[in-house]
Amino acid sequence: MTNQTRTNFQRLAQQYLAPRWVVLALGGIFVTLSNLCSAYYPRIIGQTVDTIARGAATWESMLGNITAVLLLTIGSGMFMFATRKTVIVTSRKIEYELRRDFLAALERQSQRFYDRMPTGVLMAHATNDIAAVREFLGPAIMYSANTLTTFAFVLVLMLSLDPLVTACALLPLPFVALSTYRIGKRIYIASRHVQEEFSELVRHAQEAFSGIRIIRAFVREGYEESLFTTQSNQYITSNLRLARLQALFMPSMMLLVGSSQLIVLLVGGWRVAAGTMSVGSLAQFFIYIGQLIWPIAAIGWVTGIVQRSAASLDRLYAIMDEQPELSFPMHSAQLPRSFAIGCMHVSFRYVPGRPILEDVTFRLEEGMHVGIVGPIGSGKSTLVYLLARLYDPDSGAITIGNVPLQMLSMEDLRNLVCVVPQEPFLFSMTIADNIRVGNPNASDAEVLRALERAEIAEEVLRFPQQLHTVVGERGILLSGGQRQRLAIARALVGQPRILLLDDALSAVDTATERHIQAELRALHCTTIIVSHRISTIEHCDWVMVLENGRITAQGTHAEVLATSSFYRTLYDRQQLEHRLNVELPNA
Ligand SMILES: Nc1ncnc2c1ncn2[C@@H]1O[C@H](COP(=O)(O)OP(=O)(O)OP(=O)(O)O)[C@@H](O)[C@H]1O
Ligand SMILES: [Mg+2]
Repeated sequence: MTNQTRTNFQRLAQQYLAPRWVVLALGGIFVTLSNLCSAYYPRIIGQTVDTIARGAATWESMLGNITAVLLLTIGSGMFMFATRKTVIVTSRKIEYELRRDFLAALERQSQRFYDRMPTGVLMAHATNDIAAVREFLGPAIMYSANTLTTFAFVLVLMLSLDPLVTACALLPLPFVALSTYRIGKRIYIASRHVQEEFSELVRHAQEAFSGIRIIRAFVREGYEESLFTTQSNQYITSNLRLARLQALFMPSMMLLVGSSQLIVLLVGGWRVAAGTMSVGSLAQFFIYIGQLIWPIAAIGWVTGIVQRSAASLDRLYAIMDEQPELSFPMHSAQLPRSFAIGCMHVSFRYVPGRPILEDVTFRLEEGMHVGIVGPIGSGKSTLVYLLARLYDPDSGAITIGNVPLQMLSMEDLRNLVCVVPQEPFLFSMTIADNIRVGNPNASDAEVLRALERAEIAEEVLRFPQQLHTVVGERGILLSGGQRQRLAIARALVGQPRILLLDDALSAVDTATERHIQAELRALHCTTIIVSHRISTIEHCDWVMVLENGRITAQGTHAEVLATSSFYRTLYDRQQLEHRLNVELPNA
């Protein structure tokens, strides 16, 4: 175990176990009492056997002993129940807290973290790793305490009966621990394989079903089917291997237990024949061996859990300790009084050595409508992300009304600035709920008003369920243009002061686009519109051309047309396309 792992276990204990020490101590008392009861009743059985062997048994003494055994067994069971109620329930509560803290740590992270961490990996941490740590906190701690107390009581009682038989009977037990550890480890690895293969199978099937249109269009059904068959075969092979290992577990345990009992029978039988041990004591030994098996097997099992949870704990704490790249003040140092945007000498790169934005400088007055055009991959979306502070620039500064973005709290910033991303994402909820993501307190009337502004209210009201229409996974039940306009409505419902539309009108026809732009004008918010269409940009107050991460031209539409060859070419081409469409509508 590395130093880091040891520190992590100490942190876990301090953070989650220490505050519950009373309950855990109670658990310790319960497990001790339970094992005291179960360690004591074989002694009564032994005495009863001896009394019967002597021929001195009476009905009263038999009844008394039976009652005592019954009470001790009930006591043992009840205390074991209380142990589980305390320790296992506590571990479930800690699991809940751990998951909550893990989620909070994820929520703190910046965009760069999510660029790096695939969703599947994060889901695996949130499920497998937390489950492994829970196993340590609950079952591992409980079985360790159980093993310790059972072993202590039973050993003392066995030694008081006959040290030699005790020593011989214990000989095979370390092998029990070792074989549970070995087989347990193999079972664990095999079941991990089964789980991984199953999730791969499910993940692939899910992707295939969500991309069913592409699969049909490219006639890939046969390929998908054969892939599914291959994956299913791998899954069944792993499952059979797991079943074989599980089947091996019990017989090998029974073999070792049987050999221990055989030794007791041989050595103990010899002692009884020699008259140095009573038959009752021999009977007690048999019961004690039975009682020791599971606690000893638990040693191997617990060792496996500790190893697994150590690895999981390291992974969880590594993420929980990760400092978010961006930090936001709790409260804004100063609120902007105007909503002008300043961008001074901003440079940015995602990875070292590959600049995406270089020395970008502009100033946009409050209420301005600004168009940004540029070739594919020139950094338009990146600039939008920087303006919404999803990333911080490597150098330079961005301000709103002369207040640097870093001085605003996350809440204030998100209320002020809203992005409609290039690929609209809708949740599989109703339209109203999707819109309310932008403002949870919006009334139905406000939701409807936002839909009207985004020119989609009429279409929504024509759906049978209207606002309560469920849009399907990622909005699959809607058209591309409908999805885009819902994403705009979602941004508008929060009444932002600065609106960033990243190619958010590309799937909308020019007439509808014109209406939406007129609605946006009426809101008087500073608006940046990224587009590949000149018709979207030409009515803006200001146009910026972004090429290869640099602003190569800015000014009014007419000015940029005169100064930027990229803009000029794009304009001429689109004019030509437009004329061809008008003159040859059926071509
Ligand atoms: N998360 C990321 N990590 C690394 N590189 C990225 C990341 N996101 C984008 N890039 C790279 O940054 C460059 C600019 O991308 P960006 O999305 O800003 O371009 P864009 O101008 O919006 O293009 P488009 O017109 O296609 O939307 C591209 O070369 C892209 O490959
Ligand atoms: Mg883009």
